[in-house]
Amino acid sequence: MNDASASQPLQGIDHVREQFHNLHEFVSVARAKLDRNVWDYLIGGAETETTVRRNRLALDSLAFRPRVLRDVNGTDTSTTFLGRKIAMPVALAPIGSIERFDPNACVSVADAAGTFGCPMFQSSVAKPDIEQTGKVVPNGLKIFQLYVRGDQTWVEAIFDRAVKAGFGALCLTVDTHHYSRRERDISKRYHAASSRDPDASHHQKALDWAQVDKCKKKYKLPIVIKGIATAEDAKLAVEHGVDVIYVSNHGGRQLDHGAGAIDVLPEIVAAAKGKASIIIDGSFCRGTDVVKAIALGADLVCIGRLYAFGMAAAGRDGIFRVLELLHDEMTRADSRFSEHQRRIDPATLDRILDVRRKIRDRGRAARQAIERVGNVLGDPRRIELEMSDDAMQVGIGRLENLLDPVHQFHVRIAAQLAEHRRALDGLVREAVQLAKQRRTADFTHAARAPSRPRSASASRHRSSALVSARRSPSQVVHPSR
Ligand SMILES: Cc1cc2nc3c(=O)[nH]c(=O)nc-3n(C[C@H](O)[C@H](O)[C@H](O)COP(=O)(O)O)c2cc1C
Repeated sequence: MNDASASQPLQGIDHVREQFHNLHEFVSVARAKLDRNVWDYLIGGAETETTVRRNRLALDSLAFRPRVLRDVNGTDTSTTFLGRKIAMPVALAPIGSIERFDPNACVSVADAAGTFGCPMFQSSVAKPDIEQTGKVVPNGLKIFQLYVRGDQTWVEAIFDRAVKAGFGALCLTVDTHHYSRRERDISKRYHAASSRDPDASHHQKALDWAQVDKCKKKYKLPIVIKGIATAEDAKLAVEHGVDVIYVSNHGGRQLDHGAGAIDVLPEIVAAAKGKASIIIDGSFCRGTDVVKAIALGADLVCIGRLYAFGMAAAGRDGIFRVLELLHDEMTRADSRFSEHQRRIDPATLDRILDVRRKIRDRGRAARQAIERVGNVLGDPRRIELEMSDDAMQVGIGRLENLLDPVHQFHVRIAAQLAEHRRALDGLVREAVQLAKQRRTADFTHAARAPSRPRSASASRHRSSALVSARRSPSQVVHPSR
């Protein structure tokens, strides 16, 4: 029994409560404490980090349809997971090399989580030994996560130790066939001292359902498969008797250009047909984020970077404070949804398609304008322009990742607007010059903006980029006006 009902407010951390009143306040303190390479390790993702950004975008593009005039005095975030009562449907995700953020490593994680009444994961590449973590808050639900870097005998030797140490479930991470290209590190020519054994990587690549079957057959503990991102694999997981499907794209750290995690949740919940519990992670950093996942059918939400910020800022107490604040936010949001509404109720959530369309339209508008003007300017100049546009996108991505993730979304839109406008204004200026020189009628067509977005609201919010491009034809053809 994860003794959530007996969990106590942690004593002696009032100074931490005093210091951190909002979740995002941990980020700047963590940033100041961590060295650049450790910071990059924490927040970075694979290649262009598009999956990292999509995780957040997918959550931001869901909106509530809150119900009112219901007595919400009895709001209670506690729930059960794997037969244990927990304080709220939130757990701490596995984080390898977690000792880089706090020397007490998984001891801090198990202590904060267990005391709060939430499950925690220990990664097989995190310190200390599982036997040591197992002793911390012994009745807390701990799940051991393994990267398969040996044969089945090797796997079983470690899983046996986890069982003996009192872990309550066994997890295989299955989305890590290769260690991804982390371009933040590559561009610094930085190589972290790693516990990864290059000779063992073929075991990770060879991992298949047969190995899952062997684990399932041997162990009584629930088996968790972490890294499911499609309905097809969720269906297979159920067929192989997996107890818990963990929906994750590794926080965007493995495959670039994947979908936002919460975007794939509904299809996975539908495929699982209630035959497996569902965990999800990927940029969850608000109480409202958690409520969204629960409304869409998840049983548990894992947080990764969010608690690592708390941990880097203030160790175990920082993690505990993160959980407290998350709980507070959740209670405020969750009280709008009665228990029966919490289960899959598509009406509870509205997708703000409009937001996405606007962003897409802006990007498309800018690219089309660049292409059209580029056609007139000629190939070498066009390539240069396109490259500068790509560089701009990568630059925005990098900048965003240095910022408080809670605010990234808004910053991103602002940055896109500003940058696109600048890029397009530059193009239009050049185009005017060129038109003066060539006096070509073709150019009028070339510089014309893309067609208008359809909806009235989209046109209201149309980007400044589009506005500059729309303005341009008349300026180009009649520069004296
Ligand atoms: C620094 C760091 C290390 C990680 N190490 C592991 C690991 O050892 N095993 C694993 O399965 N996932 C690992 N992950 C992925 C997390 O378990 C989780 O899927 C991800 O962080 C969720 O996204 P979020 O950080 O946006 O919340 C790691 C994530 C981070 C940020």
